[in-house]
Amino acid sequence: MTMLLKHLQGNHYSKLPGITNQAAELKGAMTAFLNRDIEYRTRFAQENFEIGFDGYSYPGQIDSINQAYDDYLHSMVLSEFYPIAKYPSEFHFYLKNIFPKMIKEVKESIEWEELETELGLEGKLGFSFSVNYYPSFESSGEPSGVRLTEHIDGSLLTIFPYGFDEGLQINDQGNWINWIPLNGTVCFPGYMMDLATNGEIGSLNHRLNWTHDQQRDRFAFALFIVPKPNVVLNFANGEQWNTKEYYQNYLALFD
Ligand SMILES: [Fe+2]
Repeated sequence: MTMLLKHLQGNHYSKLPGITNQAAELKGAMTAFLNRDIEYRTRFAQENFEIGFDGYSYPGQIDSINQAYDDYLHSMVLSEFYPIAKYPSEFHFYLKNIFPKMIKEVKESIEWEELETELGLEGKLGFSFSVNYYPSFESSGEPSGVRLTEHIDGSLLTIFPYGFDEGLQINDQGNWINWIPLNGTVCFPGYMMDLATNGEIGSLNHRLNWTHDQQRDRFAFALFIVPKPNVVLNFANGEQWNTKEYYQNYLALFD
């Protein structure tokens, strides 16, 4: 068993060494994108992409496939599965010059080949990357619920390559626990890990709560290991799903 899987079996998460922090560059790209008008931004809306959850979703949107109307964030999901030109120009520098290096560092850190082989998923996996901006409580209209509804991720692993900020809570046997903000890299298991290990490594239920400072906004960058388009996934529990069925089954958890 890889060190990472061993670690995840005993814990909810694992820290990962060796990833260069490029948060500033990505914040700049997302800020520039969000400063464009809505007509420009919705040219890259999720409905214009077919793969995974790629594309732009925004607060109050009723037809995002992965975001509820009362989740208070703008997200731009990028992936390895489209040419860079498909995404907004604001992200091109990052995608061309930084994203591939970050993926390489992550692969080394998680022992990619060993991990894929051990889980019987060789050649089936790739990366998607959710670049998220959460406006402050005040500018979100001071809503009564949480910032982001509780959920498990549709990933094998979710990785915060550049750390995470205040507000993240994980569910531990029914109790919501605050995660202390971290500057380094951390990862935790999603839906696919549960399937691929026949429940030995369960997915982590999490949500985002508001912070004490009502004027504070928040960025979050979540890298997901996901199935490549059009592959067939054979899971430890005997299930055999293609990529499309995998996503359908994942989304059905929230019906
Ligand atoms: Fe999540």
